[in-house]
Amino acid sequence: MSIVNAKEMLLKATDGGYAVGAFNITNLIQMEAVIEAAVERSAPLIIQTSVTPSKFLGREVLVAIYRTLAEAAPIPICLHLDHCTDVGYCKDCAAAGYTNIMIDASKQGFEENIRQTREVADYAHGQGDISVEGELGTVAGVEDQVKVVEDETQLADPAAAVEFVERTGIDLFAPAIGTAHGVYKTSDPKVDFDRLAAIRKALETAGLQVPLVVHGGTGLPEHTVKKLLELGGAKFNVSTELKHSLIDATFDYLQANRGEYNPGKIDKAVKVAIKKTVNGWIDRLGCQGEA
Ligand code: G3H
Ligand code: ZN
Repeated sequence: MSIVNAKEMLLKATDGGYAVGAFNITNLIQMEAVIEAAVERSAPLIIQTSVTPSKFLGREVLVAIYRTLAEAAPIPICLHLDHCTDVGYCKDCAAAGYTNIMIDASKQGFEENIRQTREVADYAHGQGDISVEGELGTVAGVEDQVKVVEDETQLADPAAAVEFVERTGIDLFAPAIGTAHGVYKTSDPKVDFDRLAAIRKALETAGLQVPLVVHGGTGLPEHTVKKLLELGGAKFNVSTELKHSLIDATFDYLQANRGEYNPGKIDKAVKVAIKKTVNGWIDRLGCQGEA
């Protein structure tokens, strides 16, 4: 069914009161596991790679595998480049066939963030049906090469958000609202719900229909995910939790089967663990059957 960009599926999710899971992968087994889980639940899906795995595997190889798997899958699947701080590499991946590009210029000043984001949006939109995600404010923590220490974190301002979306022409918007990358230091992280509500209202008042992206999915408690869904969160990014599933499943398997030298058996154990993680998010986000 489907090679798609992120825009239409997320506009549908926003209208439907559910969200789409966006899962960071670093290899073929993880990509297959995430897709299998979404197909079994008939859920729309966003596959993400950050820059390092995209360069390690090769963007053309990644796109070729994605296209083969997505064309055979009866669900819409988007391939998203995540947190890319390099305008040139954003363009390379758009040209290679990624269907959604995140230019992360959030650590730049406001005007420079707008300039870089606009440049990528114009290029991607000129390449065809490629959607673009931009970020305003900074998400604390580490995602690949993007590192933000706690006291550097700046949350997105609602008025600036309207100007940012208008002037960049982005299709999806990731406002920093207090979520963070990696393992949270507390079991109930403080997320600025009022800020997200104000941003959503300001965008709606300005007539801007732009799906909202929640970064830092790993470790968000159920009540926080539920509230963010109610406030219009349409795309939830999950990376660390999948890394833990992969590493823990590999370690556990080897600990129990140290004499096993058939890699396929480890791959199978990893797939089971990753599918379990993805299924948990499909349940939380309410996207089952929405493909
Ligand atoms: O862009 C990726 C996500 O924001 C990952 O966040 O590692 O906390 O799940 P996470
Ligand atoms: Zn992120």
